[in-house]
Amino acid sequence: MIKHLRSAADLDAETATLILDTAGEMAALAGREVKKLPTLRGRTVVNLFYEDSTRTRISFEAAAKRLSADVINFSAKGSSVSKGESLKDTALTLQAMGADAVVIRHPASGAPHRLASWVDGSVINAGDGTHEHPTQALLDAYTMRSRLGKIDGLKVAIVGDVLHSRVARSNVLLLTTLGAEITLVGPPTLIPVDIAAALSPQTKVSYDLDSVLPDMDVVMMLRVQTERMQDSYFPSAREYSRRYGLDAPRMRRLPEHAIVMHPGPMNRGMEIAPEVADSSRSTIVEQVANGVSARMAVLYLLLGGKA
Ligand code: NCD
Repeated sequence: MIKHLRSAADLDAETATLILDTAGEMAALAGREVKKLPTLRGRTVVNLFYEDSTRTRISFEAAAKRLSADVINFSAKGSSVSKGESLKDTALTLQAMGADAVVIRHPASGAPHRLASWVDGSVINAGDGTHEHPTQALLDAYTMRSRLGKIDGLKVAIVGDVLHSRVARSNVLLLTTLGAEITLVGPPTLIPVDIAAALSPQTKVSYDLDSVLPDMDVVMMLRVQTERMQDSYFPSAREYSRRYGLDAPRMRRLPEHAIVMHPGPMNRGMEIAPEVADSSRSTIVEQVANGVSARMAVLYLLLGGKA
């Protein structure tokens, strides 16, 4: 088993499948009255969050607690980071406290890689800048597999603000490893030149959502990340949602069995219409539930659990 999960590229097909299978076993636990396993008793998991988060932070906390680990939640706001403490000094503090795993979310791409060189424990990337978010890709893959029965051969459109999306990057890497065919869709300004080739040569790019939809098994909508945009990438929100938003008429272009995903938080009415987000094809709430199981599997396996 790998020690750190910094990138979806850390996972070969065998390791990723083992994590997904283990997540399935963890999910079975969620149906029980007592949702706890003693497996990580006495181990310490630190959640180190330098960026805002709802789902991911709560999900990692729930995952570690269900495995009986001691959980320390650190958020940069209200800590010595606001006094100017560096990531390295914070890392050395965690090291002194004996963290077995550090889950990090940071605005700087690459922060988890640096952290891994300063601490002895496992480092898990919970989102670094615009770079990667590997546990989101795992929970997305898990959701696809449980809804559609497989990943190999699935046609997946990832739609919207690819440029700023760590979710897109990690999903392309993981899903390609597992045999899915990816098409990135969005305005040319939000699809970096050569990104497809850089991530995986098989990845396709399209600027026309309507023409792509009839052929897809999965459509994954991305949040338009205005907080990361210094320039204007499209004329107006209205124009964006007219061309690239998923509304009900557009959703009807999808095959009957196809599912609609979104990592959250959503801009309802922009990249996704409320009636689509709340429809029976949407897996958005399921993705959140699956996130706990996927993160339990990651913590369990990285900290030495057996398959
Ligand atoms: C994503 C993130 O923070 O990268 N959200 C998440 O983790 N569920 C996507 C986003 O912020 O749009």
